[in-house]
Amino acid sequence: MEASLPIACVTIGPPPEVLSRLEAVCQVRVVAADTPAGALHEALAGAEGLLCSALMPVNESLMAGAPRLRVVSNFGVGFNNVDLPEATRRGIAVCNTPGVLSDAVADLTLALILAASRRLVENATYVTSRGWSGGHPAPALGFDIGGKTLGIIGLGRIGRAVARRARAFGMEVVYHDTFETPPEGSDDCQYRRLDDLLGESDIVSLHVNLAPETHHLLDARELGLMKPTAWLVNTSRGPVINQAALVRALRQGTIAGAALDVLETEPPMGKEPILSLPNVVLLPHVGSATVETRAAMLDLAVKNLLAVLAGQEPPACVNREALPRALRRR
Ligand code: DGY
Repeated sequence: MEASLPIACVTIGPPPEVLSRLEAVCQVRVVAADTPAGALHEALAGAEGLLCSALMPVNESLMAGAPRLRVVSNFGVGFNNVDLPEATRRGIAVCNTPGVLSDAVADLTLALILAASRRLVENATYVTSRGWSGGHPAPALGFDIGGKTLGIIGLGRIGRAVARRARAFGMEVVYHDTFETPPEGSDDCQYRRLDDLLGESDIVSLHVNLAPETHHLLDARELGLMKPTAWLVNTSRGPVINQAALVRALRQGTIAGAALDVLETEPPMGKEPILSLPNVVLLPHVGSATVETRAAMLDLAVKNLLAVLAGQEPPACVNREALPRALRRR
């Protein structure tokens, strides 16, 4: 008897050509990302694959309700949304989309650095709110980034792509990571201990994964080590910074400002004090949000999903130890 096609649950609206690609080899169940937990659990019952946003929580109870699940394919490079030890224990492969979004996130990081240094938001608002035409005083001057020091925390693919761009703008680049010798191609970045990097940098930019050891990596003590003229940029994950401590630092002038693409709660509830501070630039988690990059991410996420369902090694898996079990149908 011919085996039935595996069921794959998809929580990101796939374009028609991607849907056809999936439907050729799977029974596809498309569910909206904001589907209530009960309905999601129902859709996952019997599913062998899940293709979801890198922001959708994939926890123990969700996995327990999907005993045939073999692969969680995240549409994104971050995988802090998945309980990784639990997935590994259950023989579920967790896949992500590294590499294809590094340039897009690095571009946005530079955009935030420039927005901060050239007061882009304030100047744009000055025009659209009729400040310029009304003869009101112009915003204060910005600052040059050439010759300034950028401190990169996390010199992985994205951190290195940011370093290359920053060097092209004439910045000095120092970094902190678990390794003291910079990887090939980034030998113009100087290693620093975290505290030294914070004290030395004019702009600090975060490029680490969110994991227990990086949760609130920058807290009140660390923010207190930064220069009062320094800006903090975050395009990684919100909880890497203690946001309450950051708000205090921004109010007290401990640091000059923050340019953030990510927040501790996304989307914000609406009452967070960070939303009404004058010295912040905030974006709605759009690091990878370009047509080309999102298409490349989806392609890789689909390849990961289909490879595991077909019993083959996926191109990008973060818990390879789960593969021997994940590649077999249950
Ligand atoms: C990623 O790829 O991790 C992006 O931040 C989207 O979550």
